[in-house]
Amino acid sequence: MESRTTRRNRQKQRKRLGKTSYFLLFGLAVLSGLLITTIVKFKLEENHINMAMNQLVQSETTRQQVSGQMLETYQDNKNIASLLFLPTGGEKTLPESLKSGLIEHMQTAIKKVKGKGNRKALIIASLKKQQVAAKVEGFVSAINSYHWEARQNKFVAQAAEEQSMIYLNPATYQKISMKDLVATEEDLLGLQRVVTEKLLSETPAGQEKTVFDLPGLTFETTIDYTPEKITIALPQTVNGQNAVAITYQEMAAYVRQDFFAEPKETTPTEALPSKAIALTFDDGPLPATTMELLPILAQYNVPASFFMLGSNVEKYPEVVKAVHQGGHVIGSHSYSHPQLPSLAPEVLRQEVQRTDQAIYQLTGEVPKNFRPPYGAVDGPTAKIIGKAIIQWDVDSEDWRSLNTTKIVERVKGSVDDGSIILMHDIYPETIQAVPQIIEALKTQGYQFVTVNQLLANQQKPLHQYFGQQDERKIQ
Ligand code: NI
Repeated sequence: MESRTTRRNRQKQRKRLGKTSYFLLFGLAVLSGLLITTIVKFKLEENHINMAMNQLVQSETTRQQVSGQMLETYQDNKNIASLLFLPTGGEKTLPESLKSGLIEHMQTAIKKVKGKGNRKALIIASLKKQQVAAKVEGFVSAINSYHWEARQNKFVAQAAEEQSMIYLNPATYQKISMKDLVATEEDLLGLQRVVTEKLLSETPAGQEKTVFDLPGLTFETTIDYTPEKITIALPQTVNGQNAVAITYQEMAAYVRQDFFAEPKETTPTEALPSKAIALTFDDGPLPATTMELLPILAQYNVPASFFMLGSNVEKYPEVVKAVHQGGHVIGSHSYSHPQLPSLAPEVLRQEVQRTDQAIYQLTGEVPKNFRPPYGAVDGPTAKIIGKAIIQWDVDSEDWRSLNTTKIVERVKGSVDDGSIILMHDIYPETIQAVPQIIEALKTQGYQFVTVNQLLANQQKPLHQYFGQQDERKIQ
């Protein structure tokens, strides 16, 4: 028999159990209610973000299309969506390298966002195209991104990341090359001289030979183009550098202008007098005669052009400096006065380089003009010389007559507008003839200028000049 007490206890227990399950059920109901609300809320928010994302994708696509970009791919990777735009490029296809570079840029951006935690983001990669010059297109790989900011309840634009511009020739969609920029061999030789002078200006005194010994530029020489300057790879290290930068202004005379945005800065050429002529003196300098000539030229205010022998330049540096300070033009007449076309190429190169180096060390300028001994020059020779060849149309024949009166008469008898007059500043008879020649020709209305002025500084390598109006290409 069960006692009363036991029964009462059991009844109590049952009551308590009923209460507990009631509370449990109630709790469960509250919990699931909360859960449902959270889920609904979450779903609502997700919808909201997705809608915002869709709107953003729409507006960005429209915006990119307006600026000439076409949607290439759209990816939605869980939290991070990405859009890849490429320029609408007509019939030509973009180089694969540009596209793969942009994709790589985009992947890096996606990784960066993932690294910042699980947040909603939109990444927009585009390849912006820009017409840099008539024959140059520039491409920039750009990443724009938006991150979801929960507090602001919207997508917020992040700072854009742009890579440096890549320049291509739209005709080939290749990088701009030396062949693109430089049209002719004479321009290449002209550019060579600019490079030499630039390198020399950066070279410590005494080490100039490393510059003069550099092999010349070729159409295959590697360059790195920007619209402001090109960086030219050097075949050998100079001053510890393996490249040299040349600004557009420095090379404007030798490069195609449709590859550059800025118009060529035309140095205002002084209007030349109609009866301009140039006195030229070869084979010097010699202290006795050249130092006598300089005060005469100064007295009449006549600038002249001296074609010096490298051997004499080395022997008489003070005379070279005096000529330079007198405002005259110094050109090269080779080192030892040989018949140039008969020389082996390497010997000829030495004749030119030794003289250039000697003149540069005294004047800080590499001669731009060359007069071959005896006027003897041919195609291969002119190519190695690499300078404008200055011939003459009036020969004083001073070396033959060694007679002041005959020298004066010969020049007076054959001079014409734009003449280049050949004399030698190594004969006393020539020096004595100069005042008479200047006075007689000035009376006839002639005006004396340097060969650079006579040719308006437009003379080019591989061309020879017999007078202002007589330019011939050397074949
Ligand atoms: Ni000579």
